[in-house]
Amino acid sequence: MGVKLGLVGLGAFGSAFTPLFASHPLVDSVILCDAEADKVEKHAADPVIAPKIAGKMLSLDEVCKSDCDAVVIITQPWLHAPQCIQVMESGKYVYSAVPVISLPDDNEILDWCGKIIETVERTGMEYMLGETTMYRPQTMFCRRMAKQGLFGNFVYAEAEYAHDVDRHGCSLRNVAAFRSKGKIGEMKKQLMAPYFQRGCKNHPMSYPTHSVSGVVDVMRSKPVSVSAIGYANSNNDPYFANYDFSNITAFFKMDNGCALRVAEMREISPNIGLDDEDFRIFGTRGSYSMMKWRDNGRVEPTTDPKENKLTDLTPQMMRDPIPQEVADAFTEALIRKGGPVKDFLAAGHGGSHPYLVHEFVSAVAERRRPQVSAWDAAMYMAMGVAAHQSAQKDGEIVKVIDFGKKWD
Ligand SMILES: NC(=O)c1ccc[n+]([C@@H]2O[C@H](COP(=O)([O-])OP(=O)(O)OC[C@H]3O[C@@H](n4cnc5c(N)ncnc54)[C@H](O)[C@@H]3O)[C@@H](O)[C@H]2O)c1
Repeated sequence: MGVKLGLVGLGAFGSAFTPLFASHPLVDSVILCDAEADKVEKHAADPVIAPKIAGKMLSLDEVCKSDCDAVVIITQPWLHAPQCIQVMESGKYVYSAVPVISLPDDNEILDWCGKIIETVERTGMEYMLGETTMYRPQTMFCRRMAKQGLFGNFVYAEAEYAHDVDRHGCSLRNVAAFRSKGKIGEMKKQLMAPYFQRGCKNHPMSYPTHSVSGVVDVMRSKPVSVSAIGYANSNNDPYFANYDFSNITAFFKMDNGCALRVAEMREISPNIGLDDEDFRIFGTRGSYSMMKWRDNGRVEPTTDPKENKLTDLTPQMMRDPIPQEVADAFTEALIRKGGPVKDFLAAGHGGSHPYLVHEFVSAVAERRRPQVSAWDAAMYMAMGVAAHQSAQKDGEIVKVIDFGKKWD
């Protein structure tokens, strides 16, 4: 028997995932849920989703009371953690859009990470963070190279997420305004006011998952400590009114000896070279940078240098395979939606969406821990919190809290 999923949050981002979850071959049926009835009806009318609809609901509470196996939470970012805990308490696996939670209080972010881990352990349910970087082509490729030991020892890495507030096609001003609309969105102002009254600040490292997750997962190494520098907006831009920093650049010491430079930028002109969401990783033997792999062939000290081999990569070469029946189902869904034939990977963020969907659905069907678990999620958030705390102390070295388990 297949899986029954609750899909909660049918807004801008949820809309990209609903047809993928509904068309996955292991998914028997879906319950559509959003507090806005018109969004539920819009998705219910989608020919890809319609044949699998088992219910239409207007609240998470109703979904938790239903008999579905797992719930996908793609709601506003300040809501995720308590909603995910509620789902697991109701005996269901849960998938959360990133980040774990977005609040202007670092200690509360860490508290929620701890609570999610505790809930996973107590209930036996699983949590997956839907981090798109984990399934970008470069992450998949480098994970495979690392597994085969082809990097040698990791020596240096850099990762960044540069999303300027006015990025063409995805203005953060518009996104913030859009998410603050509707029944749920309108409550944001009231929810955030007490934080700002007691002096809490927003900052880009409260959403560090796009920059840190790929490199950390490839190296399978834990962050130890960090020194970071913050850049504060200097032209009284109202978007940054409640921010102490609009950009933070951090330098982490990893427990494998590697130095890792991470940048989270919200006020920066388009950059040249690395993509807006990208990384470079260097080992004693192999390195990855900008769609190129280099291998110096060194496995032990030698005075006889080997040929330094360069391989130009394409996204197709870098991606992991996905089961044919899943690819076919996603392709068929796109065709029915009038999309480009044969390219189910066009579905967003470097082709990561289909992989995220496949990983979560498989984990639910197999009753196993998903690849991006509660412990991964907590580690990424702890890196962001420590980097912000260091930036607030002008670069003082701060230890990164270790939530345990991962690679212990
Ligand atoms: N690259 C990425 O990974 C990436 C990209 C974009 C967005 N996101 C994440 O996706 C999430 C959603 O973003 P969005 O732009 O779609 O937001 P949105 O405001 O368009 O949609 C959120 C929806 O959730 C619904 N909702 C919230 N709580 C609910 C509840 N208790 N019951 C029923 N419905 C509820 C709202 O009514 C709304 O329709 C955000 O957390 C964001 O961080 C991630």
